Amino acid sequence: MHWTVLPHSRLAVVGCAYGNLPALAACCDDAAAQGCGAVLGAGDYLGFCGHGGEMVALVRARLAAAVAGNHEQAVAAGEAVCGCGHDDPAQERLSCAAAAPQADGVDGPARAWLAALPHPLAVATPGGAVLLCHGSPAVVNAFLRREDLDRGQAGRWLVDSGCAVLACSHTGHPWVERLAVGRLAVNCGSAGRPADDGDPAVRYAIIDLGGAEPRAEIRRVAYDHTAWASQLRRDGREERFVAQLVEGRWARPAPAPARTLRSLACC
Ligand SMILES: [Fe+2]
Repeated sequence: MHWTVLPHSRLAVVGCAYGNLPALAACCDDAAAQGCGAVLGAGDYLGFCGHGGEMVALVRARLAAAVAGNHEQAVAAGEAVCGCGHDDPAQERLSCAAAAPQADGVDGPARAWLAALPHPLAVATPGGAVLLCHGSPAVVNAFLRREDLDRGQAGRWLVDSGCAVLACSHTGHPWVERLAVGRLAVNCGSAGRPADDGDPAVRYAIIDLGGAEPRAEIRRVAYDHTAWASQLRRDGREERFVAQLVEGRWARPAPAPARTLRSLACC
């Protein structure tokens, strides 16, 4: 297990920025305004927006510690895939198509920095430690969703690592779950794509280890998504991926006809 030490008990966690420079910067600004001493990165800084080289520079400038996500591991390996790990092959193909510009502007030094990112990473603070990962501490592209969270496994990850809070990303849907006395699990959501709820704002998490019990909250952050969408269109990005920033909904594969017919028959 990799460890780092920070002198702050109030931290922000950002993840899944996908190359969205203004959204990640807005999250960092909001975190500072909310009294966070540092920002941690839960992976997938690169993705469908491109601007990969600029995003690496932004992450290095504003984040105090960071783990790799599946996008960083793919770019570091020189692979033109997303590595998201969706069960649905159509969804995985769509994610890979979206990820096509993820390495835009990533030069040799940036690629070497990406290759050196740890996963997972324990972050020690004066109030307790945060176990920072992208998917799960065990698998970089595991989907830790609130509705099917294995609370026992999450608790064991924390006990085995000596950490108080598990912080992850990857799914795009933020949540906070108290596991036991003194322990929390947090998914910070996406700092680069809306939460698929019709709201173009992005999300990140604040973790506060300064009290008797760790606490966490999900922050909603609006940014100039209209201007950024215009920039991405000038960059030549596909409209089906740009539109999700404006509409607040994700692009999804069209349902297969046979599946649609079965669903209708069931109803
Ligand atoms: Fe991911």
